[in-house]
Amino acid sequence: MVLGKFTKEMIVNKICCIGAGYVGGPTMAVIAKNNPNIKITIVDINQKRIADWNDKDLSKLPIYEPGLSQIVEKIRDKNLFFSTEIDKAINESEMIFISVNTPTKTYGKGKGMAADLKYVELCARKIAEVAKTDKIVVEKSTLPVRTAEAIKSILHNTGNGINFHILSNPEFLAEGTAINDLLNPDRVLIGGESETAIESLANIYASWVPQEKILRTNLWSSELSKLTANAFLAQRVSSINSISELCEHTEANVNEVAKAIGMDSRIGPKFLKASVGFGGSCFQKDILNLVYIARSYNLNEVADYWEQVIIMNDHQKRRFSDRLIKTLYNTVSGKKIAFLGWAFKKDTNDTRESAAIYVADHLLNEQAKISVYDPKVAEEKILNDLNYLNTRTEEENENGVSYLSSPYEATKDAHAIAIMTEWDEFKDYDWEQIYSQMKKPAFIFDGRNILDKNKMNTIGFEYYSIGQ
Ligand code: UDX
Ligand code: ADP
Repeated sequence: MVLGKFTKEMIVNKICCIGAGYVGGPTMAVIAKNNPNIKITIVDINQKRIADWNDKDLSKLPIYEPGLSQIVEKIRDKNLFFSTEIDKAINESEMIFISVNTPTKTYGKGKGMAADLKYVELCARKIAEVAKTDKIVVEKSTLPVRTAEAIKSILHNTGNGINFHILSNPEFLAEGTAINDLLNPDRVLIGGESETAIESLANIYASWVPQEKILRTNLWSSELSKLTANAFLAQRVSSINSISELCEHTEANVNEVAKAIGMDSRIGPKFLKASVGFGGSCFQKDILNLVYIARSYNLNEVADYWEQVIIMNDHQKRRFSDRLIKTLYNTVSGKKIAFLGWAFKKDTNDTRESAAIYVADHLLNEQAKISVYDPKVAEEKILNDLNYLNTRTEEENENGVSYLSSPYEATKDAHAIAIMTEWDEFKDYDWEQIYSQMKKPAFIFDGRNILDKNKMNTIGFEYYSIGQ
């Protein structure tokens, strides 16, 4: 049994990707599109998900991502396949990507902080159990630093006497722009110990990514870079959100401040948009992970520093609901509050850690009646998200929240509108009509600063936004 030693570059004809989610789906679609000679099979234990990926009706694909269905339509069943036959796909492939979910632990040691690696471990055990030939195993999921060591150890101790090599190849795509991010990446990062294994993967990316953008590092730098990138991005959002609160107490306008500081080339203009708070499956999870790792090395100042990014984000969400309640004469009991948007950002149907979930939870505690409209989020997801918090019974959530298939129905007779996601279509609604059918005074709380304040005031709305 030799770990990490390939004498020559491995020719990759077949790839297996375990996990058909927001990372695995788009990433493999783009790799397959650019490497027509490689057969890629994405496998998942979730049969319904695989059936949805294989559905003739492309609007049924399990994830919504601009540009994705067009690629899937072209290459599905040509060199991109979706299957539940995990063992077969592992066996026939030279390279296996692990793209399963790594949520924050909800139990035991590290509860609420550390990443739950049970799905990754199951994948490693599965590979060890069924592999009959040498494999390159690529970590694609976001993982805590030194996870590769755990994967290595499992493959080493329960393997079939064959060679495995582990690479870390973190994903930097952002949902909503995933296809463009994958087609034109700022960089591709490959961490590993064996040069030949690294080059096998680099060759696959080189079919469309310029060589100078393909970085090679050691395993641990690669793993830590992913956590650090997300922590820096989230930290920018929390920084501007902290300033938004100050703006609300002064005559300053956070959009103007963001523009003024963003024009400093050292700061740059991106990720300075004040909001009701960041969400998504990565930012909070990765920072909590960073904090957990720092604490485990007794680096308490480092841990406290990054933890503050999360504390600020929680404060921003709480502040939004508190302001809404206070403005509605200190009570929302029995009042209809219309949520426009439930996804954690526009152009995705993903709702993980969306600010909408937490704001809804606060308002439900105050007995509000919430009606939700989101262009892409399915009704059952909304209830699942609330039930997952375990704040109240499922029946109470069902009584408190309703889903409407049109924004005009969702806002009818509402006391207030909360804009939770920055979907472009929200800007183009007939706001006069919406105003005419709401209870008066009609309030808008724009958690994304997407509407025109003067226009809303002229129509008659009492309009509140973030940091202005
Ligand atoms: C992020 C990273 O950007 C990506 O590189 C990584 O691979 C995964 O995590 P994602 O979570 O999909 O991607 O979306 P992102 O665009 O980063 O937005 C995260 C959250 O921050 C969203 O809720 C978004 O609305 C919020 N945000 C972002 C702001 O509130 N203001 C901003 O200026 C930018
Ligand atoms: P991400 O955003 O990281 O892609 P998702 O939750 O969208 O996360 O997707 C992860 C996918 O991985 C899910 O579809 C889940 O069913 C799948 N998965 C989790 N564990 C395993 C496993 N052991 N074998 C195969 N698929 C798995």
